[in-house]
Amino acid sequence: MSKILEINNISKTFTNDDATNSKEVLTNVTFSVEENEMVVVFGPGQCGKTTLLNIIAGLEKPTTGDVKINCKEVTAPGPDRAVVFQNIMLFPWLTAYQNVEYSMKIRNFDKAERAKEAMKYLDLVGLNGFEQSYPVKLSGGMKQRVGIARAYCTKPDVMLMDEPFGALDAQTRYLMQDELLRISNTEKRTVVFITNNIEEALYVADRIIVMTDCPSTVMEEVIIDMPHPRERTDQKFLQLRKEISAMVNRRR
Ligand SMILES: Nc1ncnc2c1ncn2[C@@H]1O[C@H](COP(=O)(O)OP(=O)(O)OP(=O)(O)O)[C@@H](O)[C@H]1O
Ligand SMILES: [Mg+2]
Repeated sequence: MSKILEINNISKTFTNDDATNSKEVLTNVTFSVEENEMVVVFGPGQCGKTTLLNIIAGLEKPTTGDVKINCKEVTAPGPDRAVVFQNIMLFPWLTAYQNVEYSMKIRNFDKAERAKEAMKYLDLVGLNGFEQSYPVKLSGGMKQRVGIARAYCTKPDVMLMDEPFGALDAQTRYLMQDELLRISNTEKRTVVFITNNIEEALYVADRIIVMTDCPSTVMEEVIIDMPHPRERTDQKFLQLRKEISAMVNRRR
């Protein structure tokens, strides 16, 4: 496997306009992600997870350190990355199909390819028959599926997911975790998945990056060597859950 994403010594301090107030959110964050790996960044609320994701996405600049994708430094958003947000933002005036197609349009895919790929990915995420539905007619889980199709269809090198299932009810959240694993199994992708839910992290991750409280840094990397489908009540699952929770509580 080859390294596709490198996060090198990232620190981020937010300073207000007149520089009277500043807050260090991230400090010396370093880790890397291999091709086709599902890496979960797990950390407590408000520790700086979204800030880190925004830096990887190129939406925010680090104060120090750098991010490299395929050995090239990230300086702005680019087609090699796609983001799935917690509160999925779909264009309400576009159908599910048009929302997915739009992300390819702005990346200059030609019309025939857009049509073919949009249908393929809507099918892959289980939205067959809902192509012409407007977001207002879709449930929370279905909107997330559109968001995932939209991110996948542009064929990014790295998918960035910021608590994509955080706003869903528990049942739908479990279902979407299974769906994510099914989709990633059908079409391998490199994923950085952010969550503050340890069970979700253990259920989907190849590796978990455990973050400390703010100013946040990497506390530990844990390889999750359990085959899929995982059972949330398995002894090994529960043991890891206990260990990682204890790790976080010790350092808060
Ligand atoms: N643009 C900004 N300007 C100033 N402070 C900011 C800015 N963005 C984030 N912060 C602060 O940085 C800290 C971390 O925020 P961030 O949203 O990255 O954390 P998070 O781990 O994603 O939180 P949550 O668990 O709520 O999703 C917070 O205290 C937040 O107020
Ligand atoms: Mg966040």
